[in-house]
Amino acid sequence: MDKNKSLLKPQVEELLNKLIGVEYSAMYLYKAISIWADSCGLFGVRDYFKKQSVEEQEHGNKVIDYIVDRNACAHLPAISCKPIDKSNLLDILKMYIEHELAVEKAWTNAITVINEARDETTYKFAQWYIEEQIAEIATATDILQHYNVAANGTGVGYAESYIDNWITKL
Ligand SMILES: [Fe+2]
Repeated sequence: MDKNKSLLKPQVEELLNKLIGVEYSAMYLYKAISIWADSCGLFGVRDYFKKQSVEEQEHGNKVIDYIVDRNACAHLPAISCKPIDKSNLLDILKMYIEHELAVEKAWTNAITVINEARDETTYKFAQWYIEEQIAEIATATDILQHYNVAANGTGVGYAESYIDNWITKL
């Protein structure tokens, strides 16, 4: 294939490059949370977010592979990651849901741009991410619900310990 002929319109190429950053930001955030959990002795939570971080890296890699497969240019955007300033698991779990909702918004906004560009191939590619976000948000919500059930019955200390054990089954 002619390497100079991109199969992506410029606005779609730019958009997909930004989405690499969206996925890699999640990779960084979840890695940071796993480090936070390790320092708190919540080893189940540590391992869960370590796994999530690897999955987010794979999501970013998948965008890169798609851009390259369409003869366009993939760029690695700068990723910033603030230190985790939360002091308890409940705040972490709320942050997890908020972040997944933000990622979903990024992909649904992307669908609008892709549709305007009449790029049916990229539309099909992006659908996988929409499905993935539905599953991710459902899981994050389940974890918070389990936390709340445990905290209502027995207190915060038990809830953190309970979640740390239960999350290893996911
Ligand atoms: Fe993702």
